[in-house]
Amino acid sequence: MAYSEKVMDHLANPRNVGELPDADGIGEVGNAKCGDIMKMYIKVNDGVITDVTFKTFGCGAAFATSSMATELIKGKTIEDALKLTNQAVMEALDGLPPVKVHCSVLAEQAIKAAVADYYTRQGIDPTPLVGKISDCDHEEGHCSCSL
Ligand code: FES
Repeated sequence: MAYSEKVMDHLANPRNVGELPDADGIGEVGNAKCGDIMKMYIKVNDGVITDVTFKTFGCGAAFATSSMATELIKGKTIEDALKLTNQAVMEALDGLPPVKVHCSVLAEQAIKAAVADYYTRQGIDPTPLVGKISDCDHEEGHCSCSL
């Protein structure tokens, strides 16, 4: 299994790692199968994500996709951030090994969870805006999260 140069770069020089003490929204998702956890912190101003950081207890692929995802949504509107798919993050990283594709879902879902938390704090029901947040995109028995 080989990671692309971009993935290796994000592993060596991760962007936006850590906590945001004054975050407006915090999302936490976990991958039930491998036990990995992702936490995303967002700062929102006028509907724009002005700052974003992450913390993860996950594998290298989860780490690199989170790092890239924070770069891709920083400065974007909430609406645009919600449109970011794990597919787009993987493309920005020049791909991931097939067994690691599911790991990138953690970053996508963590963004949704952070936005949902932001809406909830604003007194807005996030469900119709954010949709379902899932921890793992694999059906029971088809998950390779432990790889
Ligand atoms: Fe658990 Fe990648 S996120 S193995």
